[in-house]
Amino acid sequence: MIRIKQNVIHQMEIEDLVPENIKQLKPYVAGKTIEEVKNQYNPAMISKLASNENRLGCSKQVKNAVHKALRDIQDYPDPISQKLRKKIAALNGVHEKEVLITAGSESLISVICRTFFLENEHAITADATFVGFFVQAGVNGIEIKKVPVTKEYKFDVSGILNRIDPDTKLVYIANPNNPTGTYLNREEYSHLLENLPDDVLLIADEAYFEYASNVLDYPNALDLRRDNVIILRTFSKAYGLAGLRVGYGIANQALIAEMTKTKLTFEPTTLAQAAAYAALDDTEFIKKSVQSVNKGKETLYNFFDQQGVHYVRSISNSVLMIMQDEDSAEDFSQSMLEQGVILRRVQAFGLPHCIRITIGTEAEMHHFEKSFLNITKKIFS
Ligand SMILES: Cc1ncc(COP(=O)(O)O)c(C=O)c1O
Repeated sequence: MIRIKQNVIHQMEIEDLVPENIKQLKPYVAGKTIEEVKNQYNPAMISKLASNENRLGCSKQVKNAVHKALRDIQDYPDPISQKLRKKIAALNGVHEKEVLITAGSESLISVICRTFFLENEHAITADATFVGFFVQAGVNGIEIKKVPVTKEYKFDVSGILNRIDPDTKLVYIANPNNPTGTYLNREEYSHLLENLPDDVLLIADEAYFEYASNVLDYPNALDLRRDNVIILRTFSKAYGLAGLRVGYGIANQALIAEMTKTKLTFEPTTLAQAAAYAALDDTEFIKKSVQSVNKGKETLYNFFDQQGVHYVRSISNSVLMIMQDEDSAEDFSQSMLEQGVILRRVQAFGLPHCIRITIGTEAEMHHFEKSFLNITKKIFS
């Protein structure tokens, strides 16, 4: 008989089991859920403006498709999402072998981190960007050299190029960036591409592509493709499918073939694949979502201008508010939470004195303004 001894592994021994890079990681601190805020403060209304989700929800066609796909959930999903992959390839004018579909684009970042790095190779990115990249690099023991963002909160292209050395494996940029909402324009992005050595990979993370693509000098990374560039897109933002977990990468076939070996075999789920497939057909929903965000941003900028708030103009679905210091950022977000407005502190993204506001519906943004005015005297006097 096998006996399992209780408590044989003491705390010290558990620590000995864990590699140093994992010990160094800080657990993800999620924003408060609607349920938690309700239980704790019971405000009259709750507006979740914390996670850059689509506050309009998702397309009705997606819900129908998910409902239909429920029939198939006893079977494993298609491991290469063939139907969806073909559709994404056709829509983007690329070969299907240049597309890889995963459980959200964060999973793809993880796949990249575990596929390409040799010992001692490092990555370069900004000091203020998507925390998921910091985390996935950390999980895989990859050192990140962080280049400070410019005073306009943009990726510093020259700073990044200057940091490249023979051990640089990869550069990560989010365009538009999260949490700043800023972007590299066509000229700046081209300058980065042209000066990047051929053996350095570039992640061009376009999680907010749908919001940005109508901006005149925004460079669609697909139009400027190179063999060392991996483009990331997601269904979590404009398509409103964050809870289903589906995203994709577009890159050179040989890179995709290597990444296909390391992705989890059965990601994304059957429901996620069906939802994404249907979501691509509803272009009206995307148009409406983008229009709503653009209108919400203009209203918020006007409000901030009137109130004398410092902020960064954005081409994504969020706006970064610049506070005096970390304490004011904490006080403000806590006071807003008590009013039922859930915002995102972005210290883990490298900006402890800032707060990110996801653009919500008209009613939610009105709630934001009203709550702001209620607490302004306390914070800004
Ligand atoms: C820049 C950027 N990339 C990737 C992601 C991850 O998105 P998902 O894993 O939901 O596709 C996010 C989510 O906030 C993001 O802001």
